[in-house]
Amino acid sequence: MQVHSFEKVWLGAALLLIVGFIATVTYGTAGAGVKMVDDSGGEIDPEAVKSGDTGTGFDDPGVVRQNDSHYVVYVVAQQFQFVPGSGDNPIRIPADTRVTFRVTSADVMHGFSITETNINTMVIPGQVADITAKFDEPGTYGLVCHEYCGAGHHAMGGSVEVVPKSEYEYNGTEVQN
Ligand code: CUA
Repeated sequence: MQVHSFEKVWLGAALLLIVGFIATVTYGTAGAGVKMVDDSGGEIDPEAVKSGDTGTGFDDPGVVRQNDSHYVVYVVAQQFQFVPGSGDNPIRIPADTRVTFRVTSADVMHGFSITETNINTMVIPGQVADITAKFDEPGTYGLVCHEYCGAGHHAMGGSVEVVPKSEYEYNGTEVQN
């Protein structure tokens, strides 16, 4: 079979494009560390969340120290606040430390998004959203509910204070695991 040289050039260019697309998709999924929020956080009874009777960290939500390099933050989203996070109760965590946010809802669907980061999940009643992150830059970050959850949705927000690791004071209970 005779393939004209002009046609060969186009075949080569098309092949290069396909390989390029596969490479970018592969990089986007594996290389850049992009991970979808999945159901690995498990299920929870939203009624028990509301009454503080889950037998988990959601009954007294806040920051729980696992060890020097890992903290877990339990957050309950409800109409129309994050506990902790909203009002004069910001989430305080150390910088340069692995932090796992465990977020659930006591009523309807909410959103949990921390500005200037890629931390962003829906908060579905009955489900626990698990997101692990590390903040390189100390500072105050905004916390936003980005799912319409009722009349006060537009006012549902809060803040996350990331403190330099050396200045962070933890005054909760220690958890060994
Ligand atoms: Cu909570 Cu919108």
